[in-house]
Amino acid sequence: MSDRLVTIERHIMETQRQYPEATGEFSALVYDIAFAAKVIGREVNKAGLVDVLGYTGSQNVHGEEVRKLDEFADSIMFRAMDHTGRLCVMASEEQEDIIPIPEKYGCGHYVLTYDPLDGSSNIDANVSIGTIFSIYRKVSSGERGTLEDCLQKGSAQVAAGYVVYGASTMMVFSTGNGVHGFTYDPSVGEFLLSHSHIQIPQRGRIYSTNEGNYQRWSEGTRKYIAYLKESDKASNRPYSARYIGSLVADFHRNLLYGGIFLYPGDKESPRGKLRLVYEANPLAFLVEHAGGYASDGNTRILDLKPRDIHERTPLIIGSREDVREAEEFIQEKR
Ligand code: AHG
Ligand code: MN
Ligand code: MN
Repeated sequence: MSDRLVTIERHIMETQRQYPEATGEFSALVYDIAFAAKVIGREVNKAGLVDVLGYTGSQNVHGEEVRKLDEFADSIMFRAMDHTGRLCVMASEEQEDIIPIPEKYGCGHYVLTYDPLDGSSNIDANVSIGTIFSIYRKVSSGERGTLEDCLQKGSAQVAAGYVVYGASTMMVFSTGNGVHGFTYDPSVGEFLLSHSHIQIPQRGRIYSTNEGNYQRWSEGTRKYIAYLKESDKASNRPYSARYIGSLVADFHRNLLYGGIFLYPGDKESPRGKLRLVYEANPLAFLVEHAGGYASDGNTRILDLKPRDIHERTPLIIGSREDVREAEEFIQEKR
């Protein structure tokens, strides 16, 4: 840890100086998200002590049981962001439609899409969970944002990041100028720079996937996972299997150590389980700015045009050489 105490604001201001056109509005927006993360993290860290575990009894747009912390995190993100005047519209995993900025507040030039709590099936087991977010510029013509603003290609993102609520709370994000990690120090109430210019190794030795889905996988996916298990010293195989079941936690480990995460399409769900707008796109933005790659097995994730806020996509993401190799198997070229 360097002796300089670099907060998120200081880091953004220092980076922003290289981009004079970046207005203070943008750095304030990232700071707003960090504030929401502190509030969510506080609740997550005491989840076992207060009545925020368990289910709300309602279901979300995906027909999934909504947990109290899902709903809490969603409301915190909304309430931390709706009055700032920096956003024109939001979209959340937990809300079926776009979230307009209330009439009583002004609109800004940015769009926020987010997964307020990722990995929520793990909450009661005290396993790491997270929050994922993407920021776009407004593209629609009217004063207030529209669905069009929330369905931009991932390549249009101006920033993306996640918070992982684990042994410590970390916020990892990029504004297009490197990927940087900030660890929360509760004694000062600030996220402090702890991982500057994160670069994912071009090839790893870890693979992350839910092998319980094996029977539903395509022949290509099965062949690829079998290939990773074969012994071959020259190509560092067999790889180690590491799967937490929280996308943010699995992604964070692979980003730091190298490796590949796969949630492929299968015979029952050809577009897989994960959502393009608020899970795949933000992580694809990050992994590419860290030197990695993300694909749906055939197409670069950031080139996919979303048609619906909640549309799903297969996600193959991580070390560039590993993802490219997985694509060859999935496309049955090997
Ligand atoms: P969420 O909690 O936001 O619905 O996301 C859960 C996702 C993701 O975090 C994880 O990678 C995946 O679900 C795990 O799915 P399986 O349990 O099917 O492996
Ligand atoms: Mn999620
Ligand atoms: Mn979620």
